[in-house]
Amino acid sequence: MLYSKILVCLLLLFTGSNTISIATAGDSPAAAPGNAAPISSKVSLVHLGSIDSFTITEQGTLAGRLLLNALENKDSKEAAAAKVVYHAIIPKEHYGGEYTALEWFCDYLLGTDDDRRVQLADRFHRSFFGFFAENDFANLKEYLGRKYKLKKFADSATDEGRDRLSFLEDFILFNNPRREEWERTSKIVECLKIQPGATIADVGSGPGYYTFKFAELTGASGKVYAIDTVQNHLDYVQNVSRKYGLSNIETVKDRADGINLNPDTADLVFMCSLYHIIYTTSTEEVKDRFVESVKEALKPEGRLVVVDNAVVQDGQLPYHGPHIAKELVIGQLYYYGFDLTEQYQFIPQRYVLVFKKRT
Ligand SMILES: C[S@@+](CC[C@H](N)C(=O)[O-])C[C@H]1O[C@@H](n2cnc3c(N)ncnc32)[C@H](O)[C@@H]1O
Repeated sequence: MLYSKILVCLLLLFTGSNTISIATAGDSPAAAPGNAAPISSKVSLVHLGSIDSFTITEQGTLAGRLLLNALENKDSKEAAAAKVVYHAIIPKEHYGGEYTALEWFCDYLLGTDDDRRVQLADRFHRSFFGFFAENDFANLKEYLGRKYKLKKFADSATDEGRDRLSFLEDFILFNNPRREEWERTSKIVECLKIQPGATIADVGSGPGYYTFKFAELTGASGKVYAIDTVQNHLDYVQNVSRKYGLSNIETVKDRADGINLNPDTADLVFMCSLYHIIYTTSTEEVKDRFVESVKEALKPEGRLVVVDNAVVQDGQLPYHGPHIAKELVIGQLYYYGFDLTEQYQFIPQRYVLVFKKRT
């Protein structure tokens, strides 16, 4: 994912019923002239974040340095100091970012054997931990070093170096053992009412956070395709699937312009934190082909579920990375032939949109 630091404010024209109304507390949205979107504050309807997903702050860097020292010097005082900083900045700086995962590692370093057993009771948390902790925490040290520029890496300015940082960052962000706490993931999964035997395409699966949950719900008679453009994510998903005997998971390397599934395959196509990328960074031709491939892969009664990051009102902590107003997604998918059938929002920073193909 290559984001340049962009703030995009869009005035979109809609000819259907999908107009946009984004009001901030205290504002009353002005009537839109003609069919232009009524934007009533300076809030951006689309925000792409940055290559680092969120701004690197002084306090975030301090906490990262303390955690790195704790790992390198095996010094629990440094881990305790890092935890104090994370505890202070989590409610203030960003929503849903990596701080809670890094604090989780501080807790591990500070915990008793019993605490650690509880932390690693979930098998997917254990795999996440294993990835970062193997070889004396080599991957976690590398991540902190690259992200907060605490160490020098010969490839930092190359595509390989940027891809490596992006992979590690996605891994820690999306398989964060504390994701449930900020995302209310179980509510998202519950509202989808997934049945045993269902076929699900997790498009933009990343390191498989949702893929693994879907695999447990669909069971041996079901199927989950983990689809991504990044091979390292797919390799991790495949290794974990093998390790835990999740034989209903199949990984698929996506082309940027198509999800690579056979027609009429999926009961549900799921995209979490992906549509904003398609919306903002694809050419129209690529977007057309991508959405067409989703449409083809869905069974006639299948559902397309888009989970993405909401625009929040003044006074609410925004999601740490990109966001996109749900009205833009609903509006665009309408013209691609999808009708919104349900929508949910369990936290201000994230929404769930459920669509069906128009027949
Ligand atoms: C923000 S991450 C979200 C990961 C996962 N959906 C989750 O919520 O845990 C987006 C993922 O989409 C992948 N991606 C980006 N463009 C893609 C495309 N055209 N097709 C499939 N995956 C894509 C990225 O490699 C990344 O793993």
